[in-house]
Amino acid sequence: MVSTWPARRRFWDRIAVVKYAQAKVVEIPAPGGDEAPVRAVPLAERFPGIDIHRVLVADRIPTDEADPRAQNFYRALARLFRVFGPHEPDVPPVPTNRDSALEHAYTPAHRELFPAPELPAEYEDPDLGVLAVASPYDGYLVATGEGTFEWDLRSLAEYEVHPGLVRLGVRVEFAQDGPRLRATAIESDLGRQVPGDAGWERAVGLALCAATTHTSLVRHYNWVHLVPGAAFAIATRSALPTDHPVKRLLWPHIFRTQFSNWVTTVGQLSVGGDFESIFSFTRPALLRLYDDTAGAFDATVVDPLRDAEKRGILGVGLDLPVLANSLAHHEVMCAHAERYLRAYYPDDGALAADEDVRRWYESLDGLVPNGVGVLGDVSGIESAARLMGSLIHLVSYQHEARGTLLWNYQMWTDVQPIRVYENGQDEPADVYQRLVNANFGLNIRRTPMMRDYSYLALDQRGRAAFRSYLADLLALQTRLEAEPRALWKVYPEMLEANMNG
Ligand SMILES: [Fe+2]
Repeated sequence: MVSTWPARRRFWDRIAVVKYAQAKVVEIPAPGGDEAPVRAVPLAERFPGIDIHRVLVADRIPTDEADPRAQNFYRALARLFRVFGPHEPDVPPVPTNRDSALEHAYTPAHRELFPAPELPAEYEDPDLGVLAVASPYDGYLVATGEGTFEWDLRSLAEYEVHPGLVRLGVRVEFAQDGPRLRATAIESDLGRQVPGDAGWERAVGLALCAATTHTSLVRHYNWVHLVPGAAFAIATRSALPTDHPVKRLLWPHIFRTQFSNWVTTVGQLSVGGDFESIFSFTRPALLRLYDDTAGAFDATVVDPLRDAEKRGILGVGLDLPVLANSLAHHEVMCAHAERYLRAYYPDDGALAADEDVRRWYESLDGLVPNGVGVLGDVSGIESAARLMGSLIHLVSYQHEARGTLLWNYQMWTDVQPIRVYENGQDEPADVYQRLVNANFGLNIRRTPMMRDYSYLALDQRGRAAFRSYLADLLALQTRLEAEPRALWKVYPEMLEANMNG
């Protein structure tokens, strides 16, 4: 039988390139374009065929966010997945040398739009002890005792994988060596391995596969976009009046969320969508993972400082470079929220007495499984600023660090497999090609954070606060540029104002 894969590949590469080339940076209009409330409904209700029930999504795309052309394009894509999808059975594995794999998969047409990924220095001789603090997977490290730590991704073993793949449940043990960590053992379906064992390298690959899968599916898509991100946008749009100062503060960070979540859900979670085609899980397992991890959502993860405290990694002498980078941004964002709130509320009592703000908080708290109380509340300015600053950090910094940043990590599947095969083979070329095209799409240019949003303010007080924020971001940019460059580092210049897709 003649292979249709070359034709499918050309077709889907073309789609990826055209989609990238046609995307435009969206200008954020002032609120008021669509004041009808947006309600939350179970995802399965809004997207027939995507059986996820515990994730709540908006019941509609507000008219000021709608882009009917783009929505029709995504509807057509979802149909095409089924009739002429980018896969064929028995496509041969990707070349073992990933430089040549990438050379082939990342075509000149792609490269003209966005540069090829770079190999992180930490991937030249992959060491989980280094990657646990200096990679997009920095959020998994948890203290287990004096000088001992772990990555506990064992629960992933409960989710069925495509035939021929190794299950993803993994636990990595680490020991502290001064400011550094050493991986000392890995437990998985491959058995228990320690450094020096013949199977150690393969176990490291499986651990990185589990981490990158969890980062893309859970940390990025479920725990940024779907669970807290959608709730943040729904509450801000629907519970606050157009000319409320808090709505103006948060608006640049929520505008287009519902459009974005709609198109990305169609593209990634439809039958034949990116997620089930790229990663290890079968479709039923994938959908169950979304339900389970929505139900188990702990909002602590949204505040990088509280999250690190909870994981027990602070104050024990560890070098935590990614966390330092994250906290630097978090401080600037919380300071912005506080300065802005102080410009409008003389004291805690004035804020606590604002019924619109209380309604916003109650709406947000009610929409997020297990609530957002751990992040702060609206009983005082400091607490509210911490909550709002953390939400801004979620949709900008965390969205970047757990999503777009993976561009330089996920393509090196010789170091960090996207699937681990029982027979030791590499992933088929069609799976690799889809991984490349999906990640390429994440790099589409979007509305930047470092822009003057003072036009959204109601008056001089708000304008001054927006401008101070921009000045703080510029100062952070300058400070970070003076430090050595690293691919795990996020710079204010890389940030988008929100997670619009
Ligand atoms: Fe995203």
